[in-house]
Amino acid sequence: MADSDAPICVVTGATAGIGLETARRLARTRMALVLVGRNAAKLESAAREVGVGTRTFVADLSMQSDVRRVAQALNAALPRIDVLINNAGALFVRREETGEGIERTWALNHLGYFLLTNLMLGALRQSRSARVVNVASQAHRKATIDFDDLEGKHSYNAWRAYGQSKLANIMFTYELARRLKGSSISVNALHPGFVNSDFGDNNGFLARQVIRIAKRFGGIPLAQGAETSVHLASAVELAGQSGAYYDQAQAVRSSQVSYDEAAQRRLWDVSAAQVGL
Ligand SMILES: NC(=O)c1ccc[n+]([C@@H]2O[C@H](COP(=O)([O-])OP(=O)(O)OC[C@H]3O[C@@H](n4cnc5c(N)ncnc54)[C@H](OP(=O)(O)O)[C@@H]3O)[C@@H](O)[C@H]2O)c1
Repeated sequence: MADSDAPICVVTGATAGIGLETARRLARTRMALVLVGRNAAKLESAAREVGVGTRTFVADLSMQSDVRRVAQALNAALPRIDVLINNAGALFVRREETGEGIERTWALNHLGYFLLTNLMLGALRQSRSARVVNVASQAHRKATIDFDDLEGKHSYNAWRAYGQSKLANIMFTYELARRLKGSSISVNALHPGFVNSDFGDNNGFLARQVIRIAKRFGGIPLAQGAETSVHLASAVELAGQSGAYYDQAQAVRSSQVSYDEAAQRRLWDVSAAQVGL
């Protein structure tokens, strides 16, 4: 990284969609970008687009072993982290389990954010004013956390699993913000909008086509979809603002259940147990 004073920003899921667009945009500010993705070739091409000095780290963020490995590599390579954008996420139409036996939506969308962030807290504390940005979704609005069946073992519905994971992003944000109160780290969540990204493309032909058509006709362009992530990562007026949910760069209320502090603590405890923290 050429400018050693440049704020260091780590973006996960930066090889496509909202994550790549966010990285492109933040690189135009003074930030030094660090991209995390699961596909080495796509990462290299993304880094070329984002600009000279962009660093890349390969990790499958649905695998806890890989999250731990990449966290160690990031900690060793970076003097500090000023912004961590947890963005890698997906919808899985069919129930799948990772090689570690965890349902894939829960493993990637929630436990990935939870474990990586916890392992990066030391590096975030090295920043004078650090930000954690969690890309959640409007899809959390009708969701609940099913503590009796977090991984849809008894009954799996893709949108329910996705909504639950995005609600978990927001509840994790609120709990972490409370735990970090008085520290130099702020944490916020956001809905990017319904965005014409590669979202859904990991699924079979039919589901992929249905989601593609919906995105093409109803989705906003990537540039607009990255707005709120860029805003939370870089807006000067947000320094020190923590524990809120944003839509269209405005703080808005999330669903009623997301504010249940006992459920937030319970979610933290079960997540910590699942990832061995
Ligand atoms: N699109 C929307 O309308 C929308 C709405 C609300 C919220 N969101 C949220 O926005 C975030 C970004 O989604 P997007 O729309 O930009 O989707 P996208 O275009 O499919 O991009 C997803 C990114 O996550 C990466 N990723 C997927 N699985 C991964 C894994 N196991 N390990 C590491 N990286 C992985 C993808 O890598 P590859 O390039 O290798 O596939 C890609 O870089 C997600 O959290 C999503 O839930 C999206």
